[in-house]
Amino acid sequence: MPSHSFPDLITEAQTTEESFLRHIFVRDQMYEWTKQPLIMAKADGVFYWDVAGKRYFDALSGIYVASVGHNNRRVIDAVRTQLDTLHFSPPMHGTNPVAVQLANLLAEVAPGDLSTVKFQCGGSEVTEAAIKLARQYHKLTGNPAKYKIISRYQSWHGSTMGSLAASGLKSRKTVNEPLPPGFVKVFPPTCYRCPFGKTYVPHPQPLSHEGRGEHGCNITCASLVNDVIDMEDPATVAAVMVEPIGHTGGIIDPPEEYLPMLRELCDRHNVLLIFDEIITGIGRTGRMFAAETFGVVPDVICTGKGMSGGFVPVSAMICRQPIADAFWGPISENPGFVEGHTFEGNPISCAAGIAVLREILERDLCANARTQGARLKAGFQKLADKYGVIGDIRGKGLFLGMEFVKNPRTKEQFPQTVAFGTQVGKQALANGLLCRFDPHWLAFGPALVVTAEQIDEMLSILDRSMGEVLAKV
Ligand SMILES: Cc1ncc(COP(=O)(O)O)c(C=O)c1O
Repeated sequence: MPSHSFPDLITEAQTTEESFLRHIFVRDQMYEWTKQPLIMAKADGVFYWDVAGKRYFDALSGIYVASVGHNNRRVIDAVRTQLDTLHFSPPMHGTNPVAVQLANLLAEVAPGDLSTVKFQCGGSEVTEAAIKLARQYHKLTGNPAKYKIISRYQSWHGSTMGSLAASGLKSRKTVNEPLPPGFVKVFPPTCYRCPFGKTYVPHPQPLSHEGRGEHGCNITCASLVNDVIDMEDPATVAAVMVEPIGHTGGIIDPPEEYLPMLRELCDRHNVLLIFDEIITGIGRTGRMFAAETFGVVPDVICTGKGMSGGFVPVSAMICRQPIADAFWGPISENPGFVEGHTFEGNPISCAAGIAVLREILERDLCANARTQGARLKAGFQKLADKYGVIGDIRGKGLFLGMEFVKNPRTKEQFPQTVAFGTQVGKQALANGLLCRFDPHWLAFGPALVVTAEQIDEMLSILDRSMGEVLAKV
C-alpha cells in the first residue's frame, strides 16, 4: 500500500459486526454488549434511529445531554457560524470573545454571587477542578492544612482519579484502587431506605436549626456531616461535594432541609460547599440550577452534560466572587488558579453553550421542564397504582426516577436474579424507549423541549414494557 493511500472505511451496516466492534471500548461490558450492539445513526427532536432504521424515543437525552433536542437548528446554526469564524484559540496565551461572553452569561443566570467560570470539556474535568480550587483557595487564604473532601456513598463525580476518589460507587472504584488519599465518605439522604433506620416526616413550617430535634428523623444524614467534619478536624477539611439530586442509586432526592443544613454547617467550619450539577444544571430540575430549586447558594457549581445540548463537549465550574477574589493578586504573591486543559473555553463549545442558554431562556424551557415533569410524575403514579411494583417515585422537573419493589408495603425488593428494573429497561429498549436502568430502578430525563403528547407516548411504551415483563416474572 503506498504511504499516501487512505484505507477503505467500513460501511455503516458493518459497524454492528463483532469483528469490527472489537476495535472499540464502549462504556458497557464489551463481550455482552457486542451480542446486541446499539449503534445510533441519526437523531431528531426526542428520537434516535439506529443503523437498521429502528426508531427510539430518547427518554434520557442521550445521557441528560441533548437538553434542547437533537438536531436543534439554533445550536447548529451557532456552531456553523462559529466554525467559519474561529474554531480554536491558543489556551496558553489567552482565550476568545465567545468564552468571555458565555462566562458573563453564566454569571447572569447562576444564583447568588456565583460569577467566575472555568471551562472544560467534561464533567470529570470540572469536578476535579473544583477539588483543586478548594485546596488552592484554602492555601491562599491562610489554611494550608485544609485538603480533605467529604462526599457521599453512591455518588458519581467522574472518571479521572480525583473525581473518582470523590465518587462513592464501589463497582467503578475497586478496580482502580488505590485512589488518591484525602477523600471521606458519608451516607446519602436515601429517605426511602434510610441508612439510619429513621423516617422522614415533612415539616409543615420551615425549621429553625434548634427545631430539628422535634422532627421525625432530625435529618441525621445532614447532621452527621457536621460530626464527620468535627471528627476529621475542621482544620483539615476543604470542601463538601454533593449532587443536589443524586443519580446513581436511583435519583436520590433529599428532604428540603438537607441542603440548607449542609450550607449552614459548611459556613460554620469554613468548608466550601460544592454542588455537582453536571446533570441537574441548565434547566433539568425546572430551574436553571438545582441550587435554586432547593434555595441554597453553594460556593461552587459544576455543570456540563446539557450545557451544549450535546453538540460539542463543554462543561463549566462556576465559583462565588469571594473565592475568585482570593486568586486575584500580584504574581509575586499569588500564582492564580493552577489548573487547565488544552480544549478549555473552546470557541465552538462556547458558541453552542450560548445558543443553548438562549434557547432555554427565550422558550422558557425551565417552565416546560416543570410542567412536563409533573405530567410524567403523574403518569408514573398511575403505573404504580396499576402494577403495584413501584415503591417510590423521586426527582424534580425532568429528572425523575422510580424504585421497583416486589411488595410496596414491606419495601421488599425483587431478588437480584430477577433484576426487574433491568428487565423493564431492556424490554423498553426493545419496544423503542431509551431510559437508564438498574436492577432496582429506572431513571428518565427527556429533552427540556419535550411535549405533552411525547410524554404520553413515553408513558405508553413504559406501561406496555412493564406489563410484558410482569407477565414473565
Ligand atoms: C453527577 C455527575 N458528575 C460528574 C460526571 C462526570 O461527567 P463526564 O462523564 O462528562 O466526565 C457525571 C457523568 O455521568 C455525573 O453524572
